[in-house]
Amino acid sequence: MKLKSTDPEIYKLIKLEEKRQRETLQMIPSENIATPEVREALGTVLVNKYSEGYPGKRYYQGQEFSDDIERLAIERAKTLFDVPFANVQPYSGSPANTAVYFALLEPGDVIMGMELSSGGHLTHGHPKVTFSGRYFKSVQYTVEKNGSIDFIKLEELALKYKPKIIVSGFTAFPKIINFKKFGQIADKVGAWHLADISHIAGLVAGGVHPSPVPYAHVVTATTHKTLRGPRGAIILVTEKGLKKDPELGEKINKAIIPGLQGGPHNNTTAAIAICLKTAATTKFKKYAEQIVKNSQALALALKGYGFEMVSGGSENHLILIDLRNKKIDGWCAAWALEYAGIVVNRNTVPGETGSAFYPSGIRLGTPAITSRGMKEKEMKVIAGYFNECINIAIELIPQNISSSNKDAAKQARKAFKDAAQKDKAIKEIRIKVKKLCLKF
Ligand SMILES: Cc1ncc(COP(=O)(O)O)c(C=O)c1O
Repeated sequence: MKLKSTDPEIYKLIKLEEKRQRETLQMIPSENIATPEVREALGTVLVNKYSEGYPGKRYYQGQEFSDDIERLAIERAKTLFDVPFANVQPYSGSPANTAVYFALLEPGDVIMGMELSSGGHLTHGHPKVTFSGRYFKSVQYTVEKNGSIDFIKLEELALKYKPKIIVSGFTAFPKIINFKKFGQIADKVGAWHLADISHIAGLVAGGVHPSPVPYAHVVTATTHKTLRGPRGAIILVTEKGLKKDPELGEKINKAIIPGLQGGPHNNTTAAIAICLKTAATTKFKKYAEQIVKNSQALALALKGYGFEMVSGGSENHLILIDLRNKKIDGWCAAWALEYAGIVVNRNTVPGETGSAFYPSGIRLGTPAITSRGMKEKEMKVIAGYFNECINIAIELIPQNISSSNKDAAKQARKAFKDAAQKDKAIKEIRIKVKKLCLKF
């Protein structure tokens, strides 16, 4: 690598990150390991080219190959998800959702999405601090205590507020999504139905999660999660969408450019095309199946250790653990687990009694460890390490961690982190985790 001599600081940090990823368990469910082919395309000369516009309609010269690359990506997206229109230019999931709003809504229109603390995404209308919450009137639905969606309540809410768009598809939802119900409610109130399948796009492509395509007008998906592609996104318009508005594809294209973005990232477009081709293979289907099998095996093993899960388990790639019965919060658990080499994220749970920063849950998933080749047998081993680590961590929590004196609580959290980082038993788990990782 030339970088080693020209920028040793960055080179060293990349190498350290490589080592971190190799020697620890990446179990954040929105992450994955991009295939070597995807990474190869990302580092090519395609990064040098500006291609504002769309194939055949660009603003700059020199597009003969960029056009073909984007056309291939579009065709592959249409074929894989069985839709008549695709835009492959969104820089990522958030801009993709924003482009859909820009195409379909006026400022002040009503947008209805799932609340963040129930498992929705910031771009689904989270109030005040986000674009989607500030420029639109946001109505948020929630999940029930058992983690499921009450569609009677959802319909009542939709009838009351008459949203212009209803967003389905989530960030922290361990169950199969009933897209049909969302479609029916959207139709009843005359709303657009946007299905954001960012998390589950690979599961849909692999046939292990029902597709929203028959029931949604527009579908957005990131390409870097279960699809194993580059950081990017696609926007799909369905037959149902074109029936509601034959100009919908054109509106989406215009919302991306000139509405929201400049030149597409051609290296990413090529990598998207590659991941979409891969996702159509039998091998990928098996991979998607294994993600779910692993998630369910992990959930079952964790249940055996007394961990309580939102909705009781997992029907997809992720698990949401409610730690309240274990007397440890998500913040302490996530740090202790990281020191043990198990990288997860803290998360709110339905009926949250903590805060967004110190929530009661842990979200973890299997896309990346399944990409490494791990199977059900390893899930049992990981559940054992997870349980061991949490049990040790519980003993390290200082009493005043939930003190109403903010400074005292802050000090207690710092003391916990230091103790967990130095703890011998946690270090021993990390060694075992590393040994496991290096086998894959
Ligand atoms: C459901 C959902 N939509 C959109 C996004 C945003 O994607 P990005 O981080 O690429 O902007 C995420 C990210 O996790 C997501 O979970």
